[in-house]
Amino acid sequence: GLPATVRIYEVGARDGLQNEKGTVPTEVKAEFIHRLADAGLTTIEATSFVHPKWVPQLADAEQLFPRVSELPVALPVLVPNERGLDRALALGARQVAVFASATESFAKANLNRTLDESLAMFEPVVNRAKTEGRHVRGYLSMSFGDPWEGPVPVPQVVRVCRALLDMGCDELSLGDTIGVATPGHVQALLSALNEAGVPTHTLGVHFHDTYGQALANTLAALQHGVTTVDASAGGLGGCPFAKSATGNLATEDLVWMLRGLGIDTGVDLDRLIATSVWMAEQLGRPSPSRTVRALSHK
Ligand code: HMG
Ligand code: MG
Repeated sequence: GLPATVRIYEVGARDGLQNEKGTVPTEVKAEFIHRLADAGLTTIEATSFVHPKWVPQLADAEQLFPRVSELPVALPVLVPNERGLDRALALGARQVAVFASATESFAKANLNRTLDESLAMFEPVVNRAKTEGRHVRGYLSMSFGDPWEGPVPVPQVVRVCRALLDMGCDELSLGDTIGVATPGHVQALLSALNEAGVPTHTLGVHFHDTYGQALANTLAALQHGVTTVDASAGGLGGCPFAKSATGNLATEDLVWMLRGLGIDTGVDLDRLIATSVWMAEQLGRPSPSRTVRALSHK
């Protein structure tokens, strides 16, 4: 069966903008997040407190966060280490996310650490965030395929998921960073995680749409009982440290499918599309989302 409701975890302002070539003004980012909230999204990842030289596009996190923090929505932020957590807590962030990798290659490229060193870096972050009563998400990148290592063995993914949960993460997000997953692989990973004792309600899915499989993968995950789905408005996104990463599953494509399935999301599709059309104008190129294109040219 399928779930009655799905929580959409909107990543457009973070994953969507971290990879932009040009600088997006802080004002535009703030307006984007306000408009996403107006469209009914209730979880909106706002930015990352990472090293500003590593991700210059999000170097304005200190300026941006206070402009959106009063919104009545959850505003998770990425924190790679204690320095990032300090910055996020200083601004009152209630939800934080660490981001691990299932592969050594990407741990090195994204975090400048081995996989185990990166887990050791996250441990005090998760500990302190939990002690301070914050909600902690643990991302797991390269959960399916890796640009350097190819297909990622399921047991390797399960091991890092367990490590993140044992550390105290409240939820996980299985990242298909480069968009190579297919539905059978999704089902196999979710089954293996269940067998390893990972409860499905702690799992979210994060599909990039490089190969056009994101919606099919999402449906496979929903059929498995997953109820948290990451998506980015207009299909923005990518990762500067993983070649071949393109945009995330577009939130509009997701809402269109869920609506057809009778699954409630609370999102106003017209307002969301207007937001993505407006954002596309700011960025100077059209949205790659098929649903945005279909419904904005009527
Ligand atoms: P490093 O160079 O190894 O840092 O980077 P370090 O720990 O050696 O520290 C060096 C200097 O950086 C120090 O300053 C620190 O204070 C400073 P110094 O003492 O030399 O003056 N520093 C910081 N400053 C501000 N904020 C911080 C911070 N940390 C250290 N948080 C580090 C290690 C993890 C910091 C770096 O690799 C980094 O920032 N990486 C972030 C990469 C990133 O954001 N990637 C994109 C997000 S992940 C993603 O997109 C995938 C996802 O969408 C899921 C999917 O699709 O799979 C989530
Ligand atoms: Mg991503």
